[in-house]
Amino acid sequence: MSIDNLIRLKDKESRNVIGLMSGTSCDGIDACLVNITGNGLSTRADIIGFETYPYENEIRESIFEASCKETGTVDKICQLNFTLGKLFADAAGQIAGKLSIPLSEIDIVGSHGQTIYHVSSLNESNDNEVRSTLQIGEPSIIAQETGVTTVSDFRTRDIAAGGEGAPMVPYADFVLFGRDEIGRAIQNIGGISNVTFLPADGNIKEIIAFDNGPGNMIIDRFAEIITNGKLKYDKNGELASRGKLNQDLLERLCAHPYLSKLPPKSTGREDFGIQFSDNLFKESRQDNIDVHDAIATITAFTAKSISDSYGKYIQLSHKITEVVVSGGGVCNPVLLQFLKDYLVDISIRKVDEFGIPSGAKEALSFAILANETVSGSPGNVPSATGAKESVVLGKIISGN
Ligand SMILES: Nc1ncnc2c1ncn2[C@@H]1O[C@H](COP(=O)(O)OP(=O)(O)O)[C@@H](O)[C@H]1O
Ligand SMILES: [Mg+2]
Repeated sequence: MSIDNLIRLKDKESRNVIGLMSGTSCDGIDACLVNITGNGLSTRADIIGFETYPYENEIRESIFEASCKETGTVDKICQLNFTLGKLFADAAGQIAGKLSIPLSEIDIVGSHGQTIYHVSSLNESNDNEVRSTLQIGEPSIIAQETGVTTVSDFRTRDIAAGGEGAPMVPYADFVLFGRDEIGRAIQNIGGISNVTFLPADGNIKEIIAFDNGPGNMIIDRFAEIITNGKLKYDKNGELASRGKLNQDLLERLCAHPYLSKLPPKSTGREDFGIQFSDNLFKESRQDNIDVHDAIATITAFTAKSISDSYGKYIQLSHKITEVVVSGGGVCNPVLLQFLKDYLVDISIRKVDEFGIPSGAKEALSFAILANETVSGSPGNVPSATGAKESVVLGKIISGN
């Protein structure tokens, strides 16, 4: 029965797909319902609706605990895998309900899962380390609860093929924005920042993509410390707007080794998470830097790590005419202003101008990747991840 289901799905001309994404910010589950016609370069994606379902504080804390080497014990990870699976299933049910489309009319759920750990670059002094990644949010629960065929675990096959398992959105970026007459950088600013550069009239083999460095991750932690936990992020950049840039601190931050590492490269909470942010905050206090100056400087650093990475890894060989920004960072006007200041002569447009809500872009990307998987087509971009070859991504759990 299950295999018949898959064959029927593969042969469908158009599919209703729910993309589910929870990024490194651990703010909530982004759910995007999209109607997709065709696949590959002929993909047409019509967004029907989008919503973010925020995590309760307790869940957010459990994810932080599970993601940390010292506190992420096997029992916690084992349970959280199923707890999150249920929350992802609920998010799928809610977005379908909100848009009045019964789950029986949804063909696929594409669920990225919650990254708990990601080992991309290997520590040379540790022979036992292997490249690996772990996204949780059990897809069997999603398929069982929703009755919808669920595709998950997109990153692992790319790692198996010799890649970093990240970034995974370049394929979707190519489908959505590629093949234009201008060189365009598709810049997402989530917890981590990641860019896909699509060269003018380029083909998929010429894509340059990598994680630039921190996105909102350090800003979020600073906002939380400064407001004694009242704020989980710097709402509309208000805290940063009260401070001024500290040039010394900015220069010190720009010397972070990740920023001068050659692509392909990817990063996460392991590099810029709570431990890194807490140490940085402590040091800035020791240097008598005002807390608002500190968060303003961190905000500038986030923008500068993006603009510097263009200079180092893209602009030496290509012209960037336009940057299309997405992700929660788009809601921080101080961050966007720094980005504009650093990217002279480049136009910056929000992805919303292209009919895609800023917060929906990553969830939409995983809907597109899931659509490729059931079509039997590859979804990774070897030039972005370093994989030896293009591979079909993900694991498929059959629905009803
Ligand atoms: N109004 C806002 N002002 C400033 N920052 C915001 C606002 N809304 C969202 N954000 C930022 O966006 C982040 C979530 O972005 P998102 O794209 O979901 O990241 P991720 O993919 O890592 O979950 C929040 O943690 C916060 O830093
Ligand atoms: Mg998020």
